[in-house]
Amino acid sequence: MGNQEKLKKLIDLRATAKLGGGQKRIDAQHAKGKLTARERIELLLDDASFEEFDMFVQHRCGNFGLDNQKFYGDGVVTGQGTIDGRLVFVFSQDFTVFGGSLSETYAQKICKVMDMAMKVGAPIIGINDSGGARIQEGVTSLAGYTEIFERNILASGVIPQISAIFGPCAGGAVYSPALTDFIIMSKDTSYMFVTGPKVVKTVTGEVVNEEQLGGATVHGSKSGVTHFISEDEREGISIIRKLLSYLPQNNLEDAPLTICNDPIDRLDDSLNSIIPDNANKPYDVKDIIHTIVDDGEFLEVHRNYAANIIVGFAKFNGMSVGLVANQPKYLAGVLDINASRKAARFVRFCDAFNIPIVTLVDVPGFLPGTTQEYGGIIIHGAKLLFAYGEATVPKVTVVLRKAYGGAYCVMASKHLRGDINYAWPSAEIAVMGPKGAIEVLDSRKIAEIEDQQKKDEFIAQAEEDYKEKFANPYVAAQYGYIDDVIEPRNTRFRIIRALQGLATKKVTSPAKKHSNLPL
Ligand code: HXC
Repeated sequence: MGNQEKLKKLIDLRATAKLGGGQKRIDAQHAKGKLTARERIELLLDDASFEEFDMFVQHRCGNFGLDNQKFYGDGVVTGQGTIDGRLVFVFSQDFTVFGGSLSETYAQKICKVMDMAMKVGAPIIGINDSGGARIQEGVTSLAGYTEIFERNILASGVIPQISAIFGPCAGGAVYSPALTDFIIMSKDTSYMFVTGPKVVKTVTGEVVNEEQLGGATVHGSKSGVTHFISEDEREGISIIRKLLSYLPQNNLEDAPLTICNDPIDRLDDSLNSIIPDNANKPYDVKDIIHTIVDDGEFLEVHRNYAANIIVGFAKFNGMSVGLVANQPKYLAGVLDINASRKAARFVRFCDAFNIPIVTLVDVPGFLPGTTQEYGGIIIHGAKLLFAYGEATVPKVTVVLRKAYGGAYCVMASKHLRGDINYAWPSAEIAVMGPKGAIEVLDSRKIAEIEDQQKKDEFIAQAEEDYKEKFANPYVAAQYGYIDDVIEPRNTRFRIIRALQGLATKKVTSPAKKHSNLPL
């Protein structure tokens, strides 16, 4: 074969490989409203930046006639490229080849890009669309999955790992995305479950369809498995690109600093009156977030899950931060099991990747009741406490209104190595709210008063006295637990100045193999 023919062969092989399982299956993929593995990569990466590896890999399985069915690439497209000019590694499962099912060689391709991402310290993005383990391959496929899991585990906290689910992701296959930092699911076309509807029906008798069992809405709102729900794949991909703009390449680097045109000393008078005079009246903490961050831009994580706490990424003077805020608009911003787990995971991610944490506090306490106690609020609440307490990144806290009881301690208080703790004048920092406190402190006196009007007057006065004494930031400020009481309209500037001062913060924790996080 002459060189020209050899060249033609290469071109032909590439063209064949790019067709994956063939045009018919590509059409079927499109008919389902799904993009192909390559189209997804093209949308994800900067133009012409994709460098593909292992395009000619084929499986080595001879079972069930598979030796007569081979496709170049073997069902997964892998390689490297850039997003906003920054290096990333990517694998994209190709449903047109054996339903995107995972073989031994397919797993090796994924492991190769994961290893490269670790070697050079760059994020890895996995796009999932697969029927799971390639049934014909048996245990080698299971081994392949587990090789990937082990790499997910070792990469955790070293490089950002992001998973998009744009099709089926079932059985043990779900555990690779579950081990990564962020999951994005597209509405209507993706699902994740450990066992599918048929097995559920056989084992439990429960009749449920795929969407009800593991669709994006379910995992975005009920289980919290997915961090983002996108309307479609294109939006999902743009979320990945946006998310990466807040993250460093690896745990030894800082997130990219961007140019900020939003004045750092921008005052916002609306903040001075945003807290209602009535302490039981809700407001939307997201209004505060949008007002104080650069250009009002906030990438909310877990938007539909545990809405009583808000977490997400924003920038202050071009610096990436992780924002955590109690949401008085939902369940009065109480801390419950889901909110604790959600925020704990987020805080730990930020800490692992050198992203400072800004916490806005307005929390009436932990949610009481048997549902919470039986569900283990003690352990789950401890996760958030642990996460804040072990975090060594800069921690700036602003108490907006309530900071009561254990929730005061947990929400990045001074005592958990909070670096700069501010309070607004509307802050109420105490063991509990006035009503509960008076019921405990004065129950005997109240019982002794027979006349109802006098009783009410006594309670009102006692509550007023309590508020006067404790429902303010100044007692905490007297002890230095609050570094300063600030004017709300100046919050943006105060946070930025605090973060600037903390930019070189260095804190070390005692040497240990690893902590024993209350799981
Ligand atoms: C081999 C598979 C496959 C698999 C699908 N295909 N899943 N081949 N192994 N796991 C093939 C089909 O034979 C078909 O081939 C093509 O992919 C498309 O599949 P369809 O069924 O036609 O597509 P669709 O109707 O869209 O259904 C998709 C599906 C279904 C829901 C994913 O294929 C399915 O239920 N597959 C099996 C899922 C499963 O039980 N996997 C094992 C899970 S356990 P042709 O040639 O006709 O195009 C697991 C363990 C992991 O994964 C453990 C890790 C530790």
